Amino acid sequence: MKSSGPLSTSWTAYLCLLSVLCSLFTPVVLVKENDFKKCHQSGFCRRNRAYADHALAQSSWQAPYKIFSAEGAAAVSLKDGQFEATILKTVDEQGSTVNLPLTVSFLKSGTARVTVDEEKRKSQSIELRHDSKARKERYNEAEKWAIVGGLTPDTDAKITHEDKAGVTVQYGPEGAFEAVIKFEPFAIDFKRDGTTQIQFNDRGLMNMEHWRAKVDKPEPEKKEGEEGQEGEEKKAEEEPKKEEVPAHLDESTWWDETFGGNIDTKPRGPESVALDITFPGYEHVYGIPEHAGPLSLKETRGGEGNYEEPYRLYNADVFEYVLDSPMTLYGAIPFMQAQRKDSTVGVFWLNGAETWIDVTKAKGSKNPLNRNSKASTNTHWISESGIMDVFVFLGPTPKDISKNYAELTGTTALPAEFSLGYHQCRWNYVSDDDVKEVDRKMDKFNIPYDVIWLDIEYTHEKKYFTWDPDMFKDPISMGQQLDDHGRKLVTIIDPHIKNVDNYPVISDMKSKGLAVKNKDANDFDGWCWPGSSMWIDAFNPAAIKWWTSLFKYDYFKGTMENTYIWNDMNEPSVFNGPEVTMPKDNLHHGNWEHRDVHNINGMTFHNATWEALVSRKKGEMRRPFVLTRSFFAGSQRLGAMWTGDNQASWDHLGAAVPMILAQGIAGFPFSGADVGGFFGNPEIELQTRWYQAGAFYPFFRGHAHIDARRREPYMAAEPHRSIITAALRLRYSLMPSWYTAFFHANQDGSPIIRPMYWTHPSEESGFAVDDQFFVGSTGLLVKPIVEKDKFDTEVYIPDDENYYDYFTYNKVSTHKGKSVSVSAPIETIPILMRGGHIFPRRDIPSRSTQLMKFDDYTLVVVIGKDGSAKGELYVDDGDSFEFEKGQFLHRAFEFKQLLLTSEAASKPSAEGQAEGEWMKQFRDVSFDKVVLVGAPSSWEGKKEVPVTSGGETHKVRLDFYKAEGGRAAFAVLGRLGVRMGADWEVDFA
Ligand SMILES: *[C@@H]1O[C@H](CO)[C@@H](O)[C@H](O)[C@H]1NC(C)=O
Repeated sequence: MKSSGPLSTSWTAYLCLLSVLCSLFTPVVLVKENDFKKCHQSGFCRRNRAYADHALAQSSWQAPYKIFSAEGAAAVSLKDGQFEATILKTVDEQGSTVNLPLTVSFLKSGTARVTVDEEKRKSQSIELRHDSKARKERYNEAEKWAIVGGLTPDTDAKITHEDKAGVTVQYGPEGAFEAVIKFEPFAIDFKRDGTTQIQFNDRGLMNMEHWRAKVDKPEPEKKEGEEGQEGEEKKAEEEPKKEEVPAHLDESTWWDETFGGNIDTKPRGPESVALDITFPGYEHVYGIPEHAGPLSLKETRGGEGNYEEPYRLYNADVFEYVLDSPMTLYGAIPFMQAQRKDSTVGVFWLNGAETWIDVTKAKGSKNPLNRNSKASTNTHWISESGIMDVFVFLGPTPKDISKNYAELTGTTALPAEFSLGYHQCRWNYVSDDDVKEVDRKMDKFNIPYDVIWLDIEYTHEKKYFTWDPDMFKDPISMGQQLDDHGRKLVTIIDPHIKNVDNYPVISDMKSKGLAVKNKDANDFDGWCWPGSSMWIDAFNPAAIKWWTSLFKYDYFKGTMENTYIWNDMNEPSVFNGPEVTMPKDNLHHGNWEHRDVHNINGMTFHNATWEALVSRKKGEMRRPFVLTRSFFAGSQRLGAMWTGDNQASWDHLGAAVPMILAQGIAGFPFSGADVGGFFGNPEIELQTRWYQAGAFYPFFRGHAHIDARRREPYMAAEPHRSIITAALRLRYSLMPSWYTAFFHANQDGSPIIRPMYWTHPSEESGFAVDDQFFVGSTGLLVKPIVEKDKFDTEVYIPDDENYYDYFTYNKVSTHKGKSVSVSAPIETIPILMRGGHIFPRRDIPSRSTQLMKFDDYTLVVVIGKDGSAKGELYVDDGDSFEFEKGQFLHRAFEFKQLLLTSEAASKPSAEGQAEGEWMKQFRDVSFDKVVLVGAPSSWEGKKEVPVTSGGETHKVRLDFYKAEGGRAAFAVLGRLGVRMGADWEVDFA
């Protein structure tokens, strides 16, 4: 929706009535980069970066972590796939140590998990400052929110080598993986087929800031070294006042810290957790959204073209964000993949606190066992608090990594089909009549769409679960009209609840004790759209239960079965808080500090709303649709996300594709960017190109700021209205393929739009390509135009297959690893069809997905170099959970040796079950036509071909079009006259 920026006049006006508060906000026009911390302004980031500088500057750096028992022998054990030991951290010159319990779990999937805790905090033997009520342990519940499976141990894991230096554990599929656990200093090398793929603490940057009591010394004495390192005169560049103290020993940020006038009381003192993870021989790393930058992550330690700052993960309401930046945005998924030729590996750093990740690349490999002379990627992960909890995936393919990650965090929920259609939004449709009018106009101009959205202004004075009594007098009649047209309504519901009298939602939340608490354990009060507000604490199961009650149709009056929800501002956005969010010393359910759970917060709210939508009415089991702005690992189970408050500019259009690709490979592919750009008014060419790009976003929504001019597709003058309409129709036409791609994402976590490295992990020239993508497994290669006055483009070709233009069937002359020029006048989206694929379509234009449910299909067969092609179609009622009971069709199509076949790709789980309503109605749906692109010339003269199904054979008309000019030969088969669910074959021989 929007941010806390000064352009949002309503709340600034409100706040400015209070002159005291006014002084807190300095009106600036553009991005307020300075409102968000740089690494040196975040104490733990600064300390850990300095620690890294200090360690790496020495030739003989010995990390102070080792596995040793008091007797000098390592006390380790491996049982049922679980390796246990205690890491000792040396904390002073005298050799005093603290105990850090280590567990390495080897999982059946081949994933390994390394956790390190701190004994003293774990046993709660620490003291908190400021009489804090906070928990004493390191946060260890991130898994409770993120992990839903995949933890079955690999009981075959065994120690294959053991000596004074360490142990080697063999694990994984066919025992192909090894973990070499080194005792002193503690480090782990993960190997696949004997080659090291991932290294922990190879560079010795591991750091667990152990608990210590605050010693109030007279200022400014020379301090005892935190890490027992003396005599290093490394200059602290950032803070001239403390020049004599090296930055990694600087205690000034151990305790209270301030930023932008806000004080963080840090009752537990310094607690950060950091680790260096090296990918030897891997030149590319991807993932860790959300950032506005290239898919292949940049180096972050300066140098030409590199960033100066680490990638940051600290969910925030970043107003008009800057592009090509490692700055944090609204969501966080601390999951990274590394890529080299023919090998993909990954790590998932399960931590919900503020996190920074430095990325550097080293030329060549210092590991002589690594035959690869390519650069290696070094990463340095730094979180403010919590246990260390890292999952290691050894691939070897991108598909393996996506699957292994999905086994842990879950897959994309199979969406309600309508949510793959076009969403029409703006801040704000001003009244129920306005909504009805937009709906009518879309029909008048024959523009398909599925959902119209209401932003915050529909509420009565920003009180969620209410309607503006003047402007939305009759929401049910509005919902009814939409329903009559097969359409849905989405209303916004945010986590901040207006703190006023006579509003049952707030009084209920307060009296039940379900709000987030401040550091003194009183209800936290902050500022957001409604002014003074409190926040639901969705970490609390009782709060989820209560939240669920608010969405019942007889409570949230005016909503009905076609009402769905948009969760915005759930980072959470707090206008007067530090970095526009909550103070870190706020308290959540279980007395966990906000510090520990910040990045998970948005997901818990999204979860509560999901739970609410499935329980609105007893017996009503429809798939929820909830859009979220903030997210964490696991949010893919709950709905869609969008990239927040972008701008109506060409560079924001260009930035969207890499961001959406990053979401896909990070396991949360149901994503999109606001089409047209949220802030500002796009020129018509930009708006047109944005619709063309948006038609290929997994989540496709047009949205606009309250100050932006109206820009519904029908507002565009010709020819742009027709061009935009054509893009929308193309989306709807390909809906069966989109839905099938979502089905695959639901099955195995694969991305919906796929970058080149993911589909072609052997083709190094494509590893950095992030402005084009394949749609699911359709073989459709799309490169949206994102530049002004650009009417042709270069499409990168990753292999030797045949490629055809989607619209003209022209054969494109291609070379593997090279780009090919494709013409793209304003009415054209560059789309190529890759040989070897079959994809379903529906060619009858329709007004919404619901109205297409029983339309016939078109099957497009793009014959590959070897004369074959393959594809799939998944279809169900698109709305209920009946698919879980086997009410679906999943067909596999194959064209091979001139025979086109359809057979069940997967059988319903509950076979023999009676056909449900949808299945019955779907009986008569068929393939209206089959198009075969790249048809052999021997078909010339052929007029019909036999179709066989269920032992019966009949002839179907065939029209052959021979190659002409640049156009490939193709054939069109008439109506097949076979049922979708039946096996059939067509013989072209
Ligand atoms: C929402 O959170 C609750 C509590 O952790 C959990 O039991 C439930 O499975 C979650 N819902 C979804 C859809 O993930």
